[in-house]
Amino acid sequence: MKASMFLLYAALCAARAVVPTNSSAGINCYNFKLDVPVTATKYVLDILPVNNNIDAVNFALDIDGRTSLNATERILGNVTISESFTLKATICTPSAENDKHIMQLLTHGLIVDSRYWDIEIDRTNHSYVLAAVNAGYTVLSYDRLGHGQSEKPDASVVQGPVELELLRVLTEMARDGSLIAGASPISPSALPSGFPAFEHVVHVGHSYGSILTAALLVAYPELSSAAILTGFTVTNSTNPTTSTAALGFEYAAANDLGRYGDRGSGYIVPATVDQIQLGFYHRDNISDLSGFSDALLAYGEYIKQPLTTGEWLSIRGLLNIVPALEFKGPLQFFLAERDFLVCGSDCKSDYDPAVLAALYPRVKSLDTYIQPDAGHGLTFQKNATAGYAVMMNWLDSQGF
Ligand SMILES: *[C@@H]1O[C@H](CO)[C@@H](O)[C@H](O)[C@H]1NC(C)=O
Ligand SMILES: *[C@@H]1O[C@H](CO)[C@@H](O)[C@H](O)[C@H]1NC(C)=O
Ligand SMILES: *[C@@H]1O[C@H](CO)[C@@H](O)[C@H](O)[C@H]1NC(C)=O
Ligand SMILES: *[C@@H]1O[C@H](CO)[C@@H](O)[C@H](O)[C@H]1NC(C)=O
Ligand SMILES: *[C@@H]1O[C@H](CO)[C@@H](O)[C@H](O)[C@H]1NC(C)=O
Ligand SMILES: *[C@@H]1O[C@H](CO)[C@@H](O)[C@H](O)[C@H]1NC(C)=O
Ligand SMILES: *[C@@H]1O[C@H](CO)[C@@H](O)[C@H](O)[C@H]1NC(C)=O
Repeated sequence: MKASMFLLYAALCAARAVVPTNSSAGINCYNFKLDVPVTATKYVLDILPVNNNIDAVNFALDIDGRTSLNATERILGNVTISESFTLKATICTPSAENDKHIMQLLTHGLIVDSRYWDIEIDRTNHSYVLAAVNAGYTVLSYDRLGHGQSEKPDASVVQGPVELELLRVLTEMARDGSLIAGASPISPSALPSGFPAFEHVVHVGHSYGSILTAALLVAYPELSSAAILTGFTVTNSTNPTTSTAALGFEYAAANDLGRYGDRGSGYIVPATVDQIQLGFYHRDNISDLSGFSDALLAYGEYIKQPLTTGEWLSIRGLLNIVPALEFKGPLQFFLAERDFLVCGSDCKSDYDPAVLAALYPRVKSLDTYIQPDAGHGLTFQKNATAGYAVMMNWLDSQGF
């Protein structure tokens, strides 16, 4: 090849290499892995080891028992860890003319990974990422530690206080523009240079991702410009209504060696699609316009992810989620009306605006919206995008 031809060829290859994924869907996305260094408290917990399905049932019995220890009583001690973890992340960017120059940082919940935010079936009707990018936001989503394509360390490390520090450092990287500087591309094979720093980072969580976000608003209030906590609220009761037994946990590697063989001791997963339906979906019948299709339920099972026993305790009191005395941004709670896990299938009377106001005394505004007839897995429901419009309009009305 002649030198000039070679240069042209190299230039074409380079150009092709930075063509982002899913440009055909109208948005540019970059998938990559990055190392996130954290120093965090790790609790040493009094919980049963889970190495098989018998252990998994014993774990549920030990957590649910009438006279069992609660989460805080199970803290035997703590150790400080300083470690770097590899997370898989995706950044999707809006078109230049539509760009708000605001980042949304999405944290998914338990039993899913970041695909929860960007569902591949009927994407226009279900993808939160697509809705947010089309509204002008740059969107960062990531697989939480131990999930999806992120690192799967010893289960004892995968717990709330460590994941809170990971969210903190990710946010700091978004704010100082260092997110992709040292990252390894997955697809496309090159990452854009000169990726900007974001003055404004809006945090959006779902379920356990909302609990981590709520903990961020308590511990690092200055890092968040605004927050939307979906699939979560603070009720008067400190005890979750959902029993461990309802989720039907099995030992992850025993449940499906092909999918979860890379998860060791202490990783558990709901046994079947029936528990996925119970936990995440709602429909009255097949023609219910706010219900879900059978394909969407199958998709929930397809992306199903194990959690750790420590994460299960984390949703029961290992994280300090209120009061957020110093958080000054606007805050929206976005609830699914028929959420079984959070509200026992009726969120309408399961929170108290006055109680919430006392827990967030300095917020610019505080709002609760209830998405009619939806189950806990808001993105899986047929009417999902109408809910996204409510969220984007609310953010816009708050100046973000
Ligand atoms: C960790 O344990 C020490 C005592 O060993 C205690 O003083 C400290 O408050 C604990 N930290 C957390 C975050 O629980
Ligand atoms: C692009 O999105 C489609 C769904 O719309 C998905 O099936 C596909 O895997 C995505 N491609 C890449 C390279 O991420
Ligand atoms: C997306 O939603 C609209 C409005 O509910 C519906 O008409 C359309 O069929 C949906 N798209 C698919 C692929 O199901
Ligand atoms: C199906 O569910 C919808 C929504 O709840 C309801 O309006 C409709 O009457 C139901 N149809 C049947 C046949 O039960
Ligand atoms: C656990 O029980 C103790 C009393 O033994 C109580 O002080 C604490 O608030 C409880 N923690 C949770 C998370 O319910
Ligand atoms: C929560 O507690 C407050 C104060 O104790 C009380 O006024 C309110 O009715 C309670 N709300 C619910 C939903 O239980
Ligand atoms: C769909 O969601 C929107 C926004 O929350 C709501 O106004 C509308 O009533 C919902 N439609 C159905 C059929 O539930």
